[in-house]
Amino acid sequence: MALSLRLLPGFLPILWLLLQAGQEQLGANPIEQVVRFCGDWALWLLLLTLSLSPLRRMTGNTVFLRWRRMIALFSFFYTCLHITAYVVLDRFFDWQDIIQDIRKRPYITIGVFAFLLLLPLAVTSTRAWMRRLGASWQKLHRLVYPAALLVIFHFFLMTRTDWRTPGYHALVLALLLALRLPRLVTHPVVRQFRCKGVT
Ligand code: HEM
Repeated sequence: MALSLRLLPGFLPILWLLLQAGQEQLGANPIEQVVRFCGDWALWLLLLTLSLSPLRRMTGNTVFLRWRRMIALFSFFYTCLHITAYVVLDRFFDWQDIIQDIRKRPYITIGVFAFLLLLPLAVTSTRAWMRRLGASWQKLHRLVYPAALLVIFHFFLMTRTDWRTPGYHALVLALLLALRLPRLVTHPVVRQFRCKGVT
């Protein structure tokens, strides 16, 4: 019961979308609205996931890390809904059309790459996988950064006119990556390179 209550906030966006759809409030192009709505939430929750470690470091409060896995999995949930909406509602399972899209429309190609990076992260997000992979688990999960970059790129490429919205998201990601820089600089591998440069 306690767990299902904790999950509730993650389902609120989809419940809101269903409510809007039920009341025919999705505007002139409801399919596009559904695809975009789920894509937006997938990206926002991905950015929120990436902000939790810096927040923990800045505040010293570990509460942020307790929510990280759940928020990351909700981001993946909305990614899957986004892709399902595209395949089912937008392309009506027309696989030939979908393959054409992947080959001919760069933003779809990039979206697929982003998804392929996120997939192993979602699969290995359990404690069992964490134990099985040991130190490699963290290395694997660093793929979240190139994945987030690809998602932003996907957003930029699909936007034909006004680049402000993807631009704001890119700024947030740039800030989150910048906050990681001090840790990267003190990383043993980077330190080794810097020492070699000095001697
Ligand atoms: C198989 C992979 C993917 C496909 C086929 C796909 C497809 C699409 C499509 C069709 C659109 C809307 C284009 C339009 O309405 O003109 C879109 C937009 C978007 N997608 Fe994806 N996508 C994929 C992966 C992803 C992933 C992994 C994320 C995030 C985690 C994502 C986030 C977004 C965002 C944020 C938008 C823009 C929404 C807006 O305009 O507000 N997509 N994608």
